[in-house]
Amino acid sequence: MTTIMDRANALLIEFEQNANSLEKVTPDTVEELRIHWLGKKGIVTKLFEDMRHVPNEEKRDAGKSMNVLKTSIEASLDVLKSKAADFVFHSILNRAPLDITLPSQKDTLKGALHPITLMQQKLLKEFRQHGFTVYDGPETDFDFYNFTALNLPADHPARDMQDTFHLKTNQDIMVLRTQTSNIQIHAMLQEKPPLRIVAPGRVYRVDSDQTHTPIFHQIEGLVVDKKISFADLKGMIQSMLHSVYGATAKTRFRPSYFPFVEPGAEVDMQCTHCQGKGCKICKNTGWLEIGGCGMVHPNVFEAVSYDSEEYTGFAFGFGLDRMAMLNWQLPDLRQLFEGDAGFQSQFSVFAEGAPC
Ligand code: DAH
Repeated sequence: MTTIMDRANALLIEFEQNANSLEKVTPDTVEELRIHWLGKKGIVTKLFEDMRHVPNEEKRDAGKSMNVLKTSIEASLDVLKSKAADFVFHSILNRAPLDITLPSQKDTLKGALHPITLMQQKLLKEFRQHGFTVYDGPETDFDFYNFTALNLPADHPARDMQDTFHLKTNQDIMVLRTQTSNIQIHAMLQEKPPLRIVAPGRVYRVDSDQTHTPIFHQIEGLVVDKKISFADLKGMIQSMLHSVYGATAKTRFRPSYFPFVEPGAEVDMQCTHCQGKGCKICKNTGWLEIGGCGMVHPNVFEAVSYDSEEYTGFAFGFGLDRMAMLNWQLPDLRQLFEGDAGFQSQFSVFAEGAPC
């Protein structure tokens, strides 16, 4: 009569034959083998159940040989599992190699200048043709340039309209500029009149909702000379907007208040999306505000020691983001800041200097 011990020994040999005959040692085949031998309904488990029928005096030896069988199988399975892991590792290595230095496929997304950059380049080109010099100015600036010298003293209520980010310094109050108008002051302190400058740049305000982003872009303009009038201002702005948006572009000036100009106005462009009929973009008004302008306030001239009796001037500040939005009829300002490569690549057709 075959005893459990004999069966256990025979099964160990059978298991080894099973293991050696595996065609491939993969995580799946090893797991199958484990289930077949040690699983809930596996051969070894059944053998343990048969222990019930073993006479008491043989139980000890039978149990021993079954434990030997079980631990031997477990040890072999461990070896097989690590072989299977090697198999997975090598099959990954042997896959078609990925050469990241190969040139990309033709149809992948093209890089392109950002619409705000395109709009800025277009405007600068236009202004240069009108004899303007392009100026740059600091994005972090002293309160003096961003506010005080622009006729916005420390407790002026109009400061509330431009809630900003303040920076701590030892010497003076500094801010992230809220407007490119700070460049007016830098330019006038550096140059003697007459003066004709434009200055594009990033500006910052504590503002974030569907139509406002904490960072946006403006382009500032300043002309100072003898006998400059509001008619010069209107003519300049209209001609600039015509050259950007075409001769049919309609503009309107609405009286408004900016502390650094008197009189001051807001400039609206007829909505290019609906041609003034009213749509979601222009909130059904047919018009979109693109910036402010006006005649330089005598207090500003005083702050930079220009003679306001001898000189007059006009200034304007436009939102570059708004202008780009209008130009390409973008439904949402946020598209300009999301960094979506699909959106961005569409602008690759507008190479530098090409008509937008
Ligand atoms: N700096 C103003 C703003 O950000 C815009 C502005 C209005 C600029 C009138 C000007 C101006 O130069 O004359 O709201």
